[in-house]
Amino acid sequence: MATVQKSVIASFMGTLAAGCLLLIALLVQEGAAVPISSHCRLDKANFQQPYITNRTFMLAKEASLADNNTDVRLIGEKLFHGVHMSEHCYLMKQVLNFTLVEVLLPQSDRFQPYMQEVVPFLDRLSNKLSQCHIQGNDQHIQTNVQKLKDTVKKLGEIGEIKAIGELGLLFMALRNACV
Ligand SMILES: *[C@@H]1O[C@H](CO)[C@@H](O)[C@H](O)[C@H]1NC(C)=O
Ligand SMILES: *[C@@H]1O[C@H](CO)[C@@H](O)[C@H](O)[C@H]1NC(C)=O
Ligand SMILES: *[C@@H]1O[C@H](CO)[C@@H](O)[C@H](O)[C@H]1NC(C)=O
Repeated sequence: MATVQKSVIASFMGTLAAGCLLLIALLVQEGAAVPISSHCRLDKANFQQPYITNRTFMLAKEASLADNNTDVRLIGEKLFHGVHMSEHCYLMKQVLNFTLVEVLLPQSDRFQPYMQEVVPFLDRLSNKLSQCHIQGNDQHIQTNVQKLKDTVKKLGEIGEIKAIGELGLLFMALRNACV
């Protein structure tokens, strides 16, 4: 992990520590057995840009300050439950799409100037994953993603703010799943 990313992450350890460690543990534990579809990949360089990484985490921080619901976590162990490591990038692609379309778009006037910089960045990542598919049945993945969507919808605007507050986790989960 680059020093910059480390320090960015470190400043968030307070609130995000549990989630980060969970994700890392999860991803290490599952190992890499099956080759990932060649389209379900993102270049490491996407996650090594200090400026946009900082903006993403600053946006998450601003939103998490406005999120008073500490009982719910969207991006955590449950999201990956029963999903093979080789399918994690495809799963995160679905989460990224939902976040862009159903969370960031409705909230696009808020949390400036970060929002206007982070949305195009995430949009580019989403486009790079447009050809990412998995073979066979993806029902188990859709079920997990649907639970996340339902949670956000049920919480309404608070759910959207929470999802923005977890953009740091989304960033790390995408990197872990797709690089
Ligand atoms: C982002 O950069 C600003 C200064 O440019 C700094 O004050 C802030 O702590 C950084 N945020 C993170 C999350 O690294
Ligand atoms: C969180 O904030 C919302 C809206 O501002 C408020 O309705 C709710 O009571 C708050 N919940 C807690 C646990 O503070
Ligand atoms: C999200 O998914 C829908 C349906 O698959 C697709 O039409 C849309 O272009 C995607 N949007 C983004 C931002 O990835």
